[in-house]
Amino acid sequence: MCGIVGYVGQRSALDVVMSGLRRLEYRGYDSAGVALVDNGGLVTAKKAGKLLNLDAELAARPLPESHTGIGHTRWATHGAPNDRNAHPHLDESGRIAVVHNGIIENFAALRAELEASGHEMQSDTDTEIVAHLLHDELKRTPDLSDAVRAVCQRLEGAFTLVICDADHPDVVVGARRNSPLVVGRGEGENFLGSDVAAFIEFTRDAIELGQDQVVTITPTDVVITDFFGEPVETTEYHVDWDVSAAEKGGFEWFMLKEIDEQPQAVADTLLGRHSSDGRLQLDEMRLSDDELREVDRIIVVACGTASYAALVAKYAIEHWTRIPCEVELASEFRYRDPILDRSTLVVAISQSGETMDTLMAIRYARRQKARVLSICNTNGSTIPRESDAVLYTHAGPEIAVASTKGFLSQVVACYLLALYIAQVKGTKYGDEIAAILQEIEKIPAGIQRMLDEGDQVRKLATELAGSRSILFLGRHVGYPVALEGALKLKELAYIHAEGFAAGELKHGPIAVVEEGLPVFVIVPPKGRDQLQEKTVSSIQEVRARGARTIVLVEDGDDDVVPYADHVIRLPKVPTLLQPLVATVPLQIFACEFASQLGHDVDQPRNLAKSVTVE
Ligand code: F6R
Repeated sequence: MCGIVGYVGQRSALDVVMSGLRRLEYRGYDSAGVALVDNGGLVTAKKAGKLLNLDAELAARPLPESHTGIGHTRWATHGAPNDRNAHPHLDESGRIAVVHNGIIENFAALRAELEASGHEMQSDTDTEIVAHLLHDELKRTPDLSDAVRAVCQRLEGAFTLVICDADHPDVVVGARRNSPLVVGRGEGENFLGSDVAAFIEFTRDAIELGQDQVVTITPTDVVITDFFGEPVETTEYHVDWDVSAAEKGGFEWFMLKEIDEQPQAVADTLLGRHSSDGRLQLDEMRLSDDELREVDRIIVVACGTASYAALVAKYAIEHWTRIPCEVELASEFRYRDPILDRSTLVVAISQSGETMDTLMAIRYARRQKARVLSICNTNGSTIPRESDAVLYTHAGPEIAVASTKGFLSQVVACYLLALYIAQVKGTKYGDEIAAILQEIEKIPAGIQRMLDEGDQVRKLATELAGSRSILFLGRHVGYPVALEGALKLKELAYIHAEGFAAGELKHGPIAVVEEGLPVFVIVPPKGRDQLQEKTVSSIQEVRARGARTIVLVEDGDDDVVPYADHVIRLPKVPTLLQPLVATVPLQIFACEFASQLGHDVDQPRNLAKSVTVE
């Protein structure tokens, strides 16, 4: 939430900052702004709304050439999303400019203190107080980094700050607590960004910034300290994707591109993780086999789509490892006083690695002595850094706000983890694990088929685009798929969409079924606990009440045909793998449905990627 960029070097700072903001716009699009150091002063431009509005403002009132600058794209927390509250915020002398991501929790007290000493606020934001605090601090010390450190010590909550100062034209200072910030290292230039996408066009060499650290960049130097000025150890890394991965590559939307990339994303998550005879190697995981053998309970914490990946994974984890597994929304987890100990493995799933609710959940779990393993797609992000162990999904950058390849690769990573624990604990024979892995290896082809057959789903979306309500039903692993199908539609099309466990229908939800209501039903493969038969009964029940049924069912299962208004065929795969193919048409449906309504698919209203507030 909120994208932040800082640059100092030889290029046009405005060009670098604007290109960074374009790549970070998925993090928030309530307003955007830039500040540049110009000839002993600062110049700024900021506009409410999407970056396009700032582009227009800059075209109408161009800023002078500068080589030092900062920028921000906002997801509003304190103060309405208008020009006045757009970042950067300045101190009263116009010397200091600040951009911020996060929430400063003690801002009311600090604001009152500043106002009492004569400062006048120009905005309703929590951010502006930082500019004023720096103004005062710089009367005590001439050093911008020192002043930032002193101010950070007074702030509570979550903040990434990036600051420039007219009196220090070749310096940009950043600071972070609980919100993300990474450093990009160039030749004769350096960068700051909320994530590496901000500077990927210019450098793939990055430095992780740890909790409570301050970084000072000049064209030639990067200095990182803690909030008290002590030098800290840093971790440098090379980003393993390039700028093309962060571009639309001919697709109308990032979401379409990311849906299309799913066969590759799943293949990359599997790559190099098992030998040809089916023995799993998760070398980078950082938890020893002995530690895994001690695990007697697994709790998966996650939010939104990632929590649905967790719900899918629960079936496989319990089935393969015989270890009890619970799934908990990260935002609820620590508030129910969960009972944890050293033999509890808490698995945190997060595409971004920055979701604040999930981060707080793992911090809580570690304080209670549980071991924490994260499943994450973003190298160097906070959640894996603060976990005991990590399994990266390697899906490549996900830029559309609605998660797609993130979800499928999370399910696959959870499956790899479950199989690995089964291997270590001996709850599955080696040949059984090898057979399951062989089936998983076929999944990219199954996803590809669903993509190739996407036109029928797009046609259906066009037909149904007038609907104001759509239901999704599933059983077993099909239930979280139903939840995910509904979430995609809600967030992109802004209509009422709900996922239900098909067996629950008769306990209440069936009352909402009325003539013409579209109902998607995911039918489990035949032969497992009569789940298929029971789901066919659910289809009949909603059909009898006038619903228009859209049935996702595997090849060769014709039992549903008499009760289906529309059949979407799925490749035959084992039950536990069906979500990996069944989710794809639901993603395509939501994307096309929203496009038909004229919505911005990549940047749905009120949302932002990477939710860094609680
Ligand atoms: C929905 C969506 C969100 C995220 C959730 C968790 O399409 O993208 O529900 O899944 O905010 O995000 P991560 O996985 O980054 O922790």
